Amino acid sequence: MRRIEGYAIVSADGMIADRDGAMPGSIRNDADQKFLQTELDHVAVVVHGARSHEGGPRAARRKRLIVTRRIASVAPDPSHPNALLWNPAGATLQEALAKLNVGAGTAAIIGGTEVFGMFLPLYDAFHLTRAAFAKIPGGRPLFPGIGTQPTPEDALAAHGLKPGTTQDIDAAAGVTLTTWTREAATTTRNS
Ligand SMILES: NC(=O)c1ccc[n+]([C@@H]2O[C@H](COP(=O)([O-])OP(=O)(O)OC[C@H]3O[C@@H](n4cnc5c(N)ncnc54)[C@H](OP(=O)(O)O)[C@@H]3O)[C@@H](O)[C@H]2O)c1
Repeated sequence: MRRIEGYAIVSADGMIADRDGAMPGSIRNDADQKFLQTELDHVAVVVHGARSHEGGPRAARRKRLIVTRRIASVAPDPSHPNALLWNPAGATLQEALAKLNVGAGTAAIIGGTEVFGMFLPLYDAFHLTRAAFAKIPGGRPLFPGIGTQPTPEDALAAHGLKPGTTQDIDAAAGVTLTTWTREAATTTRNS
């Protein structure tokens, strides 16, 4: 089995985007972006929904699966040569990765809500960045039905993950990073 790791930045009330699906400036953070982009340079494949993308100049080089209901199982993505469109209802993750010629390595799950939720029972690690000063009332939660009560942390704990040390990756902006892992409570990743 390959490793499955999730990456998200959430507001104080557990949201990843506003009610229209846009990511507000209050949860955009340079230290978090640097961490995410560096991590994604070392994974085997990036997996995200049709409205999510990590952006940045290195994105086109990365292999990716784009989750969508527009196709039945797996199909080429005409606009991204290194990507395939994937409908989990029609093909397993392993089948989709085989068609993309992805060998061993980590699959990075980067959103949005439904896609984060789909992998909740499977994460080996989840890198949860929190922007403590941001609130997005009525926004889109990290996991379906999860916000302030229960919290994203409650959901990760309920699925068997344990938190490592919380790092202040941008203290002035109130932004922290905690890596949750299945195997140990002490694992910490550097930004
Ligand atoms: N703060 C963060 O860390 C973070 C992370 C990720 C995203 N975001 C933000 O959140 C915004 C909204 O995210 P979102 O949840 O609306 O977007 P999303 O997951 O990127 O896209 C939703 C689309 O993904 C496809 N999809 C989702 N679940 C599926 C399933 N089970 N089976 C097949 N297809 C599925 C569908 O595409 P089709 O309509 O093509 O069928 C659906 O319309 C994004 O625009 C981004 O700005 C923030």
